[in-house]
Amino acid sequence: IGMKITKICCIGAGYVGGPTMAVIAQKCPDIQVTVVDLNVDRIAKWNDPNVENIPIYEPGLSAVVAEARGRNLFFSTEVDQAIEEAEMIFISVNTPTKTYGTGKGLAADLKYIELCARQIARVAKTDKIVVEKSTLPVRTAEAIKSILHNTGNGVKYQILSNPEFLAEGTAVEDLFAPDRVLIGGDATPEGQQAIQALVDVYARWVPNERILTTNLWSSELSKLVANAFLAQRVSSINSISELCEKTGANVAEVAKAIGMDSRIGPKFLKSSVGFGGSCFQKDILNLVYIAKSYGLHEVADYWEQVILMNDHQKRRFAKNIVTTLYNTVADKKIAFLGWAFKKDTNDTRESAAIYVADDLLNEHANVVVYDPKVSEKQMLNDLDYLATRSVSENHRLLQAASDPYAACEGAHAIAVLTEWDEFKTYDWQRIYEKMNKPAFVFDGRNLLDGEQLTALGFMYQTIGA
Ligand code: NAD
Ligand code: UGA
Repeated sequence: IGMKITKICCIGAGYVGGPTMAVIAQKCPDIQVTVVDLNVDRIAKWNDPNVENIPIYEPGLSAVVAEARGRNLFFSTEVDQAIEEAEMIFISVNTPTKTYGTGKGLAADLKYIELCARQIARVAKTDKIVVEKSTLPVRTAEAIKSILHNTGNGVKYQILSNPEFLAEGTAVEDLFAPDRVLIGGDATPEGQQAIQALVDVYARWVPNERILTTNLWSSELSKLVANAFLAQRVSSINSISELCEKTGANVAEVAKAIGMDSRIGPKFLKSSVGFGGSCFQKDILNLVYIAKSYGLHEVADYWEQVILMNDHQKRRFAKNIVTTLYNTVADKKIAFLGWAFKKDTNDTRESAAIYVADDLLNEHANVVVYDPKVSEKQMLNDLDYLATRSVSENHRLLQAASDPYAACEGAHAIAVLTEWDEFKTYDWQRIYEKMNKPAFVFDGRNLLDGEQLTALGFMYQTIGA
């Protein structure tokens, strides 16, 4: 028996909720999709008449929003109303690492998830399918079920897990053609019917063989495991980068050589200044916490090493800058190219740039940053959040430049922190002429043409060579 969805609500208009729902709305013109958020400012930006002002930068996203917005895609702060009207409710709120209490620094903070469940329980008058879109610890659905099934008002719920695998910078591409869509639910007939209702939504554009259905716990856990495996590849190649620097091997050559083994595969083997982003660290810490909570200490230690290696990679990049600049960067201008955690996004959460800047500011460097998509306000917020020094000190020591040539003028060194394509196209001769000599470039992304820069006179250093 089919259950046809006509109205979807998504709680959370962030990096996942916004793009995911925009694509569902574009692909399913007959389904009304309403994305709600408590953040009034964020919703106002999603509704900005100029679609280029939507709050999240993703290639191709503004076109998708332009097509669907006002037709069957709506952004609103009326959370209760959207919950009441929808047959299917996605929960796509943030699940950051806890900063207090039990599990501080490791566990996922589920207070926003629980608030959503309680709000649904309070507001719903008709049966609902509730979909976990946020990344959650395995067995969270149990808690959500417990809240929803104990209202005593006769409303029936089915809980599904449908984790999101999109990567920032390629969100629209990933949503259009996902490697797989994962849907977990109960084995009961009602559970299977709910799964089918969500399968039917994705089946409008995703081939059937790419839609995978499992039980709830496999689905919840698979999301954490996928991120852990991806991050582990980056930490593994980064660990080898340090060995390459000592031995004369070149990490790009090693990555290519091992990646051609079809069992290893070529993707996600790019050595860097360290992975960032809102999820890798948070999700691995969460996995570590879950393993510990079951007494699986070897499992916990194994995965924690991925984070420790990443911290080491960020720290040794900063340390190498100081050592190379004759052991002092005090009052020297260091130009950063890039602040975002990867190219083609304005997201800076957990970006390696933040930690490298923090280390250099400890050494009293003057850091001037150029990033094509990140504002100075955001950079200073990121630094202030670490609370290493006073807000006024951060403002004094770090500035953003509105153009890359101004950022590099008079600098002792340039550090490349993000792999934005435009950095490769700059007039490097012009940059060289205006820098302090010797002019150093520390390429944290193996992005630039080292031979060309060396020929121009730069002292060029990269990771893993
Ligand atoms: P985000 O912080 O960008 O967005 C979350 C939004 O939820 C915020 O705008 C916040 O105001 C809103 N919110 C919180 N509580 C609310 C409530 N009770 N009612 C209404 N709105 C509320 O987060 P994000 O990056 O979109 O991530 C969301 C989830 O998706 C996380 O669990 C994350 O791990 C997961 N995820 C993220 C990515 C990614 O690339 N960012 C990819 C896959 C999965
Ligand atoms: C990652 C996963 O790729 C997504 O599948 C997942 O949905 C998402 O996390 C999430 O759960 O939030 P994202 O963090 O957006 O996506 O971006 P990635 O492309 O995975 O990059 C993460 C970090 O690793 C970046 O800082 C990137 O520069 C770094 N990285 C990636 C490397 O240093 N080397 C690589 O080879 C690949």
